[in-house]
Amino acid sequence: MTAPQPVLSPPVSSDGPLDVDAVRRDFPILGRAVRGRALVYLDNAATTQKPRPVIDAVERYYEEENANIHRGVHFLSQQATFSYERARGRLATFVNAAESAEVVFCRGATEAANLVAHGYARSRVGPGDEILVTHMEHHSNIVPWQMLCEATGARLRAAPVTDEGELDLAAFADLLCPRTRLVAVAHASNVLGTVNPVRRICDLAREYGAAVFVDGAQGAPHLPVDVQALGCDFYALSGHKLFAPTGIGILYGRRELLEGMAPYEGGGSMIQSVSFEGTTWAEPPARFEAGTPNIAGAVGLEAAVDYLNGLGMERVSAYEEELLAYASGHLAEVEGLRPFGEARPKVPVLSFALDGAHPHDIGTILDAEGVAVRTGHHCAQPLMQRFGVPAMTRASLAFYNTRREIDLLVEALHEVDAVMGGAS
Ligand code: ALA
Repeated sequence: MTAPQPVLSPPVSSDGPLDVDAVRRDFPILGRAVRGRALVYLDNAATTQKPRPVIDAVERYYEEENANIHRGVHFLSQQATFSYERARGRLATFVNAAESAEVVFCRGATEAANLVAHGYARSRVGPGDEILVTHMEHHSNIVPWQMLCEATGARLRAAPVTDEGELDLAAFADLLCPRTRLVAVAHASNVLGTVNPVRRICDLAREYGAAVFVDGAQGAPHLPVDVQALGCDFYALSGHKLFAPTGIGILYGRRELLEGMAPYEGGGSMIQSVSFEGTTWAEPPARFEAGTPNIAGAVGLEAAVDYLNGLGMERVSAYEEELLAYASGHLAEVEGLRPFGEARPKVPVLSFALDGAHPHDIGTILDAEGVAVRTGHHCAQPLMQRFGVPAMTRASLAFYNTRREIDLLVEALHEVDAVMGGAS
């Protein structure tokens, strides 16, 4: 087993505002047409597109390095192991972990939540204990805790969300109690865009000795992440929402917590020794990476993080903030449009309802114009119930989107009005 690599410094990013035209040229798919129109891709909260350096890194890995890792003395195995562990170091730097051993590779934020539920919470939660989430969580940050509660006799509680789509912090604080063992909260909502006050949440949870798991799936693509400044115990992100391949992500965990955790899956690579009398576990992070991992995915994720570091997350955030303001202003001019989620700060996610039109019809009409949005419950049914709707339409932006694309979205929404108005 190769020792974890030291945390690496990111490349220095250039100054000045983001050159969006240049950025778009890095994403081959953005140049394609769909249904005879230029693609307007506004479904970035579902998954993001991949820049050329990420595609190249995966291809190069398979063309030049492919071998199994942590197992071979031969050249390729050592090279693949080096690349995989270098990727871990790069991710540790990206989230400002204290060391690379605090980064566990997994399939994504969903697997990370399940890993924490089984490996951390299962042995620490009993009848009468409580897990606290919020009403704005994605199903992946509700269901694993619900399953845990069913298995242990613990109780799942949910802090309310205001009409503007913000976490009601006073109510959240009131729900914390000495029986709260774990708080699970999104860094940013996949529906409302709301950026939660994670530092404050961690401080409040700490007063009751509760650990905090942060679902960073929608936060990390838009905001600089510093797990030490946030003060969280766990932070999860999904590579495919971060301009990297699907099937790869990370769980950050504080070292002392990871060291005290049971494995989530058993198999090769996660053991120290195995006999029929018993098995001892490897140290973290290997303890949580049973079997052959997604090595190419890790290499692709490293390339995505390098790409983002090259742009600079501060510049990405600044550009997206400007684009969000432009989009919010123009959507507000669409007759009959009701926005959901007007928190500040928020990431560039715009969910809405349109009078007289079902979201699925809206999505289909927009698609005919080449505009890709998501419609449905967005894996957040409790939030739909909170706002009294079965579904919403959602435009979710990334740093490669432009004002022109927002204009095309708005024009396409006028088309919805024309089609649906004509239909009624
Ligand atoms: N979680 C993804 C979304 O919000 C799939 O669309």
